[in-house]
Amino acid sequence: MPTELSPIDKAKFVAAKKAVEYVEDGMRVGLGTGSTAAWMVRCLGEMVREEGLRIRGVPTSTRTAELARDVGIEVVSLDQAKWLDITIDGADEFDAELNLIKGGGGALLQEKIVATASDQMIVITDASKEVDTLGAFPLPVEVIPFGWQTTQALIEETLAAMDVMGRSASLRMNGERPFVTDEGNHILDLHLKRIGNPRQMAMILNQMPGVVENGLFIDICDTVVIGYGDGKTQVR
Ligand code: 5RP
Repeated sequence: MPTELSPIDKAKFVAAKKAVEYVEDGMRVGLGTGSTAAWMVRCLGEMVREEGLRIRGVPTSTRTAELARDVGIEVVSLDQAKWLDITIDGADEFDAELNLIKGGGGALLQEKIVATASDQMIVITDASKEVDTLGAFPLPVEVIPFGWQTTQALIEETLAAMDVMGRSASLRMNGERPFVTDEGNHILDLHLKRIGNPRQMAMILNQMPGVVENGLFIDICDTVVIGYGDGKTQVR
């Protein structure tokens, strides 16, 4: 274990370390994005370099691709891999049914495509991401830049007609400019507070013109590995 980790980083590290035990020689592995997923990529890189583990990794963002190459993982595209044995990724929130909010790092589109093309998805997280009801974390929605304000208005009008507490959608910024995803899109963060019916919300959002994908992962995650600051882990 790296020395001098803060309790939160230790929790993320031990969750990642536990999750890579699910990775076997020869597997095609989806590599998530974010600070927790970065620990997993580093752990896999160490297994490749020091234990001779042979895997092909499909990254879910340009920054994960760069890290994976740096640590010695063979990187292939999803279309080269075709299907994945396992995907390991972080999350912004998870509930008791293992439904997730993802996209805090802006990579939700590739993350959802990759996780859906996997035999199993394992989420690695610290305990702070567990919630009774999804929605305190703003729900990221990827929208195309063309007419994004019209899409924002349509989303807000639709939310107003639904049984949700929060209704505002804010454009994610990167300094003075709109945040741009790997696919060249923008992100609207929906401040909903509480999502009573995540499945319905996900379907409604994805029917809107201009919406590319939303950050609700419903029935995609199979296992959650929770790490704790004292080094313990729990598998759900
Ligand atoms: C990126 C994601 C991340 O997995 C999520 O934001 C969690 O990130 P972190 O591990 O840094 O807390 O969905 O799009």
